[in-house]
Amino acid sequence: MKVIAMVSCLGGSGRTTLTAALASAFARRGRPVLALDLDPADLLPTYLGATAPHDSGLHASLVDTSGATALNAIQNSDGIRILSVGNTAFPSAPAILREHPSRLRDILRRLGLQDDTVVLIDTPRQPSVYADQAQAAADLSVQLWRADVASYARLAATLPTPDRTLHLINQMDPTRRLQSDLHALLRARLGSQLLAPIHRDEALCESIAANQNPFEYAPRSRAIMDLEMLAERLLQALTSTVVPARVDA
Ligand SMILES: Nc1ncnc2c1ncn2[C@@H]1O[C@H](COP(=O)(O)OP(=O)(O)O)[C@@H](O)[C@H]1O
Ligand SMILES: [Mg+2]
Repeated sequence: MKVIAMVSCLGGSGRTTLTAALASAFARRGRPVLALDLDPADLLPTYLGATAPHDSGLHASLVDTSGATALNAIQNSDGIRILSVGNTAFPSAPAILREHPSRLRDILRRLGLQDDTVVLIDTPRQPSVYADQAQAAADLSVQLWRADVASYARLAATLPTPDRTLHLINQMDPTRRLQSDLHALLRARLGSQLLAPIHRDEALCESIAANQNPFEYAPRSRAIMDLEMLAERLLQALTSTVVPARVDA
């Protein structure tokens, strides 16, 4: 089992969109995929073309430190299994999760998944105990940014990121001069921790609206080509023992 957490301190950065698209990319490569929705907004099942379950199995399991709560994943038409915290309120959850930072990691270990399974975790905007749980469980975190001034300012003010983190700019539009300049600045700051960007591409939104897998909806679109490369790069990073170290400009 290899675990990837999709995280960001920006709203609308594309965590859910890219978690769903990467789940499809890995499934198309024949990898068993478990997609975890840790965001109470509960959109990942819909983005994956599945009906969100009404039970709150994953949330109940996270707060049940006895480990007795059963987990029932749903499955979409591509065979991607999905577990979701659901949108039922668990007011006690943040305190319990802060006290037990490795709850999710323990739950995932107990699932006894196959070695080649890829677990992808969608998270709420940071700071969030759910994002912290995801990062503590992850072999690799993908930190999402946009090529905009807000991202640059946030990144400049951010402490060095944990070792096993790669950074990704989403919704890149290279025809905009400012975006290209900011991309260059972010690349100088992050060095080899910065992945190749995902371009802004309406096909990604349209495929969700059309309830279709983006790889089938628009196989030759720019974002799909980016996503194919990203999936390969992440698999490579997961199998190598060393994720590139941070290089400051
Ligand atoms: N690469 C992209 N190109 C075009 N639209 C995108 C792209 N990535 C995300 N979006 C759109 O941006 C919006 C926010 O994406 P979403 O995945 O819900 O963000 P988050 O989960 O980080 O809040 C959605 O409307 C989504 O369709
Ligand atoms: Mg989201």
